[in-house]
Amino acid sequence: MTTDTTGTVARDGDSRPGGPADSPFIRACRRRPVPHTPVWFMRQAGRSLPEYREIRASVPMLESCRRPELVTEITLQPVRRHGVDAAILFSDIVVPVAAAGIDLDIVPGTGPVVAEPIRTAADVERIRLITRDDVSYVDEAVRQLVVELGDTPLIGFAGAPFTLASYLVEGGPSRTHAKTKALMYGDPELWHALCARLAEVTLTFLRVQIDAGVSAVQLFDSWAGALSEADYRRFVLPHSTTVLSGLVSAGVPRIHFGVGTGELLGAMGEAGADVVGVDWRTPLDVATGRIGADKAVQGNLDPCVLLAPWPVVEAEVRRILEQGRAAPGHVFNLGHGVLPETDPEVLTRVVALVHELSSRRADQG
Ligand code: CP3
Repeated sequence: MTTDTTGTVARDGDSRPGGPADSPFIRACRRRPVPHTPVWFMRQAGRSLPEYREIRASVPMLESCRRPELVTEITLQPVRRHGVDAAILFSDIVVPVAAAGIDLDIVPGTGPVVAEPIRTAADVERIRLITRDDVSYVDEAVRQLVVELGDTPLIGFAGAPFTLASYLVEGGPSRTHAKTKALMYGDPELWHALCARLAEVTLTFLRVQIDAGVSAVQLFDSWAGALSEADYRRFVLPHSTTVLSGLVSAGVPRIHFGVGTGELLGAMGEAGADVVGVDWRTPLDVATGRIGADKAVQGNLDPCVLLAPWPVVEAEVRRILEQGRAAPGHVFNLGHGVLPETDPEVLTRVVALVHELSSRRADQG
């Protein structure tokens, strides 16, 4: 391993046979041949699992994110149960913002709620730049998890500046992002100052996770699909680029995902992603045409399909694997997070089916 000038540890040399860097998931991210198509699910560590609900019954969401022993246990639950090809750190996109001094809570059934929304230059100043010590519980949890997971890669993550800004400006979840857009169009200078600050916080948060041993990172810009491509390029792309390009030397694959981003897929790839996440609206072969052959894709089963009878699920999995062959690398996933009402048994069956269908394909050459 080498340390670059940013202090971030590059672990390209860590691709020993059998280690996480040689896993089907990391190989697919790097567009290398795989023994089977790797699969994991966004929001796999969460409310669809009874063993998760049991742990969370007595612990509020943000507190559970700050207790390394709980983070470790919840992160491991879907790996044990479903046999997914990667774990995703149990946390939330607002964790680093709370660590930066913003008073917020995650309200069950609603999502993040901010006590005093960010609307002025003085408000932006309230977002402190974080250090490793502000998120030492994440550092500790990742170190524990890397030991527990062995050859299974751990994905670190963060929210992208636009999606974080939306929660901070609105004060909570929003369907229209009206206050966010009003600030963006009405005061571009303040908007860019806010996003630049969030990009710095995010970059530190991801570097802490990488230094502690995650094998890949995913930047969630869940709500970027609310913007036109022109506005995305002007108001968002420079800040997401700060984050993703700032991690180049870290040597771990970078995944970039948003919902309703069919028109933005090319631009989101340009922000510095190795893998672009695609929601269910855009078929993977079409997405690959927009993203280009130099990036892998991740996706894109509609999470609602998991609520349908098994033959419907099976047909959709087959279609997605087939369309994913157009990409130079495919990580099977949902088009957005697992819904709480999903039967966990169906998730386990999907993992087995993806593995079976994609291995048979490899056997046939
Ligand atoms: O994917 C995983 O399993 C890892 C854990 C994870 C959580 N949130 C845990 C969580 C991840 C990767 C996230 C990211 C996240 N958080 C995003 C980006 C992904 C996406 O879905 O677009 C966003 C937008 C958030 C903000 C957020 N946090 C929302 C919208 C909600 C849901 C509110 C609700 O209760 O319906 C949360 C809460 C949250 N984050 C829960 C979990 C397990 C539910 C809390 C609970 O169980 O009480």
